[in-house]
Amino acid sequence: ELRRIPHPPGRLPLLGDLIGASPRTPLQDSMRHARRLGPIFRRRAFGKEFVFAWGADLVTDLADETRFTKHVGLGIANLRPVVGDALFTAYGHEPNWQLAHDVLAPGFSREAMAAYHPMMLEVAGRLTGHWDRAAADGRAVDVPGDMTKLTLETISRTGFGHDFGSFERARPHPFVTAMVGTLTHAQRLNTVPGPAVPLLLRQASRRNAADIAFLNRTVDEIVRVRRSSGGGEGDLLDRMLETAHPETGERLSAQNVRHQVITFLVAGHETTSGALSFALHYLSRHPEAAARARAEVDRVWGDTESPGYEQVARLRYVRRVLDESLRLWPTAPAFAREARADTVLAGRHPMRRGAWALVLAAMLHRDPAVWGDGADRFDPDRFEPVAVRARPAHVFKPFGTGARACIGRQFALHEATLVLGLLLRRYELVPDPSYRLTVAERLTLMPEGLRLHVQHRTPPA
Ligand code: HEM
Repeated sequence: ELRRIPHPPGRLPLLGDLIGASPRTPLQDSMRHARRLGPIFRRRAFGKEFVFAWGADLVTDLADETRFTKHVGLGIANLRPVVGDALFTAYGHEPNWQLAHDVLAPGFSREAMAAYHPMMLEVAGRLTGHWDRAAADGRAVDVPGDMTKLTLETISRTGFGHDFGSFERARPHPFVTAMVGTLTHAQRLNTVPGPAVPLLLRQASRRNAADIAFLNRTVDEIVRVRRSSGGGEGDLLDRMLETAHPETGERLSAQNVRHQVITFLVAGHETTSGALSFALHYLSRHPEAAARARAEVDRVWGDTESPGYEQVARLRYVRRVLDESLRLWPTAPAFAREARADTVLAGRHPMRRGAWALVLAAMLHRDPAVWGDGADRFDPDRFEPVAVRARPAHVFKPFGTGARACIGRQFALHEATLVLGLLLRRYELVPDPSYRLTVAERLTLMPEGLRLHVQHRTPPA
């Protein structure tokens, strides 16, 4: 029952609502439509109708796990040739989802996280080494570029014992280039009608096949090294290769391991890199928030060289800065929910079994009914415990919802809080006054072209 759902004016037969849409910024286009059309709306492209929901009451209903579940469609389905039925891209009915979830979830327990902590510190040390040199030379740092190096090294070393040498390279590692290539391709496939893909994207498809082959080769080599070394110290790769399901005794197949490794290397770093970059942007533009965060780091950490695992969780204000950045720019900005059976969404919109809607987290997080009129303003105090308790449960969803929510949430939050703490303690962040926030989209969001000058607060020891 779509008739009651508004859509943009001036529809064309084949192009639908694509007039004026930019293929490079589909999310920000949808945000503009959302502001005009309200909490639920639809857009049409190439004969397909897409429903977008972002009003708090609608999303609360879509979060009901008894009636709705993750929908694998659009950009996610386009990634199936790359990562098959690994965790992120598996259909709910595929047995490999439960198997991999049960085998890998202990890799994200508190104990596992505490074991990754020293390695996270070590990688952060590479970043500060790199920034120290930039500070000494008076050079600006490339924030998204450096955060991507940091988060890729963090997941690859803690999870897979692999060193990409990102900080020793002038250009991104070819693995990153191939990964960005496949993500961009997956997004572009949505902007071209299926039958026209061979014609319009022939060259792009060939390049995509080469990118996939490169990702596979890289991962096969990581697995080969691990197998020949006779096992690591119980990281994610060891779990994938050696752990049997506690009840069924089943193990992941070699092909599934390959898909999981690529999934974790990609999902484990893109979004966290964006989250750190947005947080650094806001900190550089809000000196009063930066000062409060810095004072907290000084108080909680003192001048210890290596803050411990427990000391990161105690950076409450730094964590609020991160939450507030993820509110304004949830770096995985949307997720899809489908009806498990015929149902009525929020008592108003009938949905057939399998029908689905895209939740625009980036707009849910700005719903004035929940966040007030100043919802576009950066204000970490929104995440003070009293304020959080006063809000409904399902209005902040940067990590998705339900059984298919992000398995790496604690990993990302620990890593990002640790790194923000280290950077705030060591540097003043000086923005380029002419920079205006521009958000780049390639399935995930990133502040495009963000550069900062960093100056030492105190001389490095
Ligand atoms: C799933 C966001 C970091 C691994 C998801 C989903 C979201 C998300 C929204 C659900 C997608 C959907 O419903 O279709 C984020 C954000 C992160 C982050 C914003 C950082 C700030 C990480 C990290 C890892 C990771 C560090 C791994 C170490 C995964 C995996 C899934 C997932 C494997 C699929 C889970 C499943 O379906 O069972 N993430 N993520 N993510 N994330 Fe993350």
